[in-house]
Amino acid sequence: MSDIRIAIVGCGGITLQNHIPGIAMCGEAKVTALCDANASTLEQARSQTGVTVTSTDYHEIVEREDVDAVIIATPNLYHGPIAHAAIKAGKHVLCEKPIAMSYGEASQMAEAADAAGVRHMTAFTYRFVPAMRYLSHLVRDGFLGDPYHFRCCRLQDWGSRDLGWRQESGLAGTGELGDMLSHRIDFAHLLYGPMTRLCAHLKRFVADRQGHASDLDDWSAILADFTNGATGVLESSKLATGRNESWKSQDYLEINGSAGSVVFLTGHWNQLQLGRPGGEGLETIQIPESFWTWPGSPRDPNQGDPLVTFRYDQAFEFLDAIRQQRDCVPSFWDGARALQVMDAAVLSARESRWVTLD
Ligand SMILES: NC(=O)c1ccc[n+]([C@@H]2O[C@H](COP(=O)([O-])OP(=O)(O)OC[C@H]3O[C@@H](n4cnc5c(N)ncnc54)[C@H](O)[C@@H]3O)[C@@H](O)[C@H]2O)c1
Repeated sequence: MSDIRIAIVGCGGITLQNHIPGIAMCGEAKVTALCDANASTLEQARSQTGVTVTSTDYHEIVEREDVDAVIIATPNLYHGPIAHAAIKAGKHVLCEKPIAMSYGEASQMAEAADAAGVRHMTAFTYRFVPAMRYLSHLVRDGFLGDPYHFRCCRLQDWGSRDLGWRQESGLAGTGELGDMLSHRIDFAHLLYGPMTRLCAHLKRFVADRQGHASDLDDWSAILADFTNGATGVLESSKLATGRNESWKSQDYLEINGSAGSVVFLTGHWNQLQLGRPGGEGLETIQIPESFWTWPGSPRDPNQGDPLVTFRYDQAFEFLDAIRQQRDCVPSFWDGARALQVMDAAVLSARESRWVTLD
């Protein structure tokens, strides 16, 4: 089988940390073109990867005949226009989250991709955490009984440092809501299905980050009802002083039902804690090895730091869906559903009221 030829648009942090090593792991795929609006970032990516086809104009890259698929990893504002250009050129698209600036824009992207018959995927990376995959398996298997609660708490310490485009509404849309909570909104959808209504609070504590004005939330919270009858409490902060960042910080998820509870904690990529009716406390379990990698992924879970390398399975899923001509998991529709909740959260916070979701 010939290699799948991939163009990457946006060569910043997540491309270097995740997309490039993920593709390298997969085999039968190669990065053939790179684009970044910043010439020096582009040059750095060129020298790091050896990919010689480069441009600061995404049109030149996504329209190339020697490109089959496009990965979009730019600030959020540009996701939609780049995705539409790639879809128009007949390319498969993996787009970073949040995939658009609004639900309306995201559903147009999903509709265009479906109409063009190309594969489309949202980079909800946390779906690939082995413990999270086992957690969703337990829910599907009926471990919870009647679902009562979904609860998540993401606490990081980003202090008052300059966050670049992430702190500007014109480029990012939302702050902590889209940056971190969007992953957990998607996971809530995966486990419990859609929300029926929500009430949200978004707050900015730091308006000046090293001389760069911020007009976005650095803390966000949602209280929700789900169609399955459960309640949800979702919280995320960049200002949990002393909590550190990324996998060294607090990432906690707990679900409760009539027959059991399941708890996920940061750093425990292959463990969960279970609670059972009448139990005296939570019991820690190791998740089965069959869940350590995404089905079919060539990744060796014993190689590298598993708290980082689970992310590479995302590239495998994208490429495998292209080869098998099947839908990607998660798709643009999952990205759109998360944006529908985000839009409702922004409206709720602005008008200080509950918002009903269709
Ligand atoms: N899935 C995850 O876990 C995860 C993690 C981090 C970031 N992200 C997402 O990835 C995206 C990028 O984040 P990042 O941390 O890599 O940001 P970054 O700032 O490090 O990189 C973005 C790059 O895009 C380039 N760029 C800006 N406008 C462009 C344009 N019009 N055309 C081409 N290039 C352009 C910038 O020069 C920069 O190099 C964001 O949507 C973010 O939310 C997802």
